[in-house]
Amino acid sequence: MPKVAPSILAANFTRLKEEIDSVQSADYLHFDVMDGMFVDNISFGFPVLGAVRKVTSMMLDVHLMVHSPMRYTKRFAEAGGDIITFHVEAETEDNTKKAIAELHSIGKKAGLSIKPNTPADAVLPFLDTLDLILVMTVEPGYGGQKFMNDMLEKIAFLRGIKDNKNLKCEIEVDGGINLETAKKCVKAGATVLVAGEDIFGAADRASHITKLQSL
Ligand code: DX5
Ligand code: ZN
Repeated sequence: MPKVAPSILAANFTRLKEEIDSVQSADYLHFDVMDGMFVDNISFGFPVLGAVRKVTSMMLDVHLMVHSPMRYTKRFAEAGGDIITFHVEAETEDNTKKAIAELHSIGKKAGLSIKPNTPADAVLPFLDTLDLILVMTVEPGYGGQKFMNDMLEKIAFLRGIKDNKNLKCEIEVDGGINLETAKKCVKAGATVLVAGEDIFGAADRASHITKLQSL
């Protein structure tokens, strides 16, 4: 049974606490940080994460879509993030190793994400130390995009390695996830499903989360 992580990028920000309460039966709350450089869009940062932290005890799954993320990984952890995931394309190998070690030294989980055009091999040097691998199933930057079926192979490849090496890391998918695409991802080996519009647009969010968790 997969974990489910609603992305608050799709929430109504004028009533964020009620929106978070409406998805509290999920496993993580996904928090997308965009800097207008690594991706074109700009979303939210430390003050909003701090406010979210105050109103929920959910696991906060922070997805950093920022340039040179090592500058910020620790600060997002200290602002309340539980899992801090950043992009392998955005940082040097050396800094990536340092950021993962730093997150672990303060008791946080560390994840690495790969964009659709980045081969799965890019995360291999870090595999043994990762708590989560985030496979982007759309180009990062915006919610509400169409799921890229081509990514299923990448998910299956990474799941094969995880099982072979008996690794603890989660395999998370993000972008265009709905009941139909989630099913394919779980079949390919995904263990965490991020969904924005699909969950926040559902008439009954709690029962929709249950459906995704039951796949
Ligand atoms: C996209 C973000 C996603 C986004 C997903 O760059 O990383 O987390 O919120 O939105 P949906 O599920 O609507 O495609
Ligand atoms: Zn995301």
